[in-house]
Amino acid sequence: KIANLKGLKQGQLRLAVITTAKYFVPRLLGPFCQLYPGIDISLQVTNHERILERMTNNLDDLYIISQVPEHLDVNCHPFLENPLVVFASENHPLAKEKNIPIERLENEPFIMREPGSGTRRAVQSLFDEHDIKVKVKLELGSNEAIKQAIAGGLGISVLSRHTLMPNTPEITILDVEHFPIKRTWYMVYPNGKQLSIVARTYFEYLLDAANKMVENRVSHVYSSVEGGN
Ligand code: PGA
Repeated sequence: KIANLKGLKQGQLRLAVITTAKYFVPRLLGPFCQLYPGIDISLQVTNHERILERMTNNLDDLYIISQVPEHLDVNCHPFLENPLVVFASENHPLAKEKNIPIERLENEPFIMREPGSGTRRAVQSLFDEHDIKVKVKLELGSNEAIKQAIAGGLGISVLSRHTLMPNTPEITILDVEHFPIKRTWYMVYPNGKQLSIVARTYFEYLLDAANKMVENRVSHVYSSVEGGN
């Protein structure tokens, strides 16, 4: 009987998610598609600004972002923490220090995400708040490329803790004051939009999966927020 009900859930699911969500959304799609084989998915992975454009043009069923849009009438459901932390190469001289004053970042070559990135906006606003001026050595539009540059010793950066999944041994998290920057992932859709059965099913599935992650603490994101690396 249950199988029959699941068989009724058919159609296309259009998702658009910020870059950091690609570390868990595709992975969770496997079990989802096994549960609902009739659902086909299209998944766009792009930065915050592009997602807002897609939302304005009503291109997708559901969105995942990390910052509530200011000028759009949308429904936002927080579902998981998305802390931003300072990454450096494991050999970096600051790697063994504790409680590093934020001013120390001014001396380090910095790798910054591209304009339009939500990560960049959050980092810049923390730096502005504390009047910190970092030396941007490199600007890069990809979390993965930034991680490679860090591992290669080019500089430090601030990225979502989730981008370390799976663990990247050459990279460590620096213990800098005012970090992590606390952010949250939200599932978002335009206010007043009637979600399709397929979209609603995914929405509930993802909320449930996120709750399980928190309960089981399977994500090392949480252990890092609580102290260890
Ligand atoms: P970004 O999104 O890819 O736009 O930086 C991440 C975020 O906003 O947390």
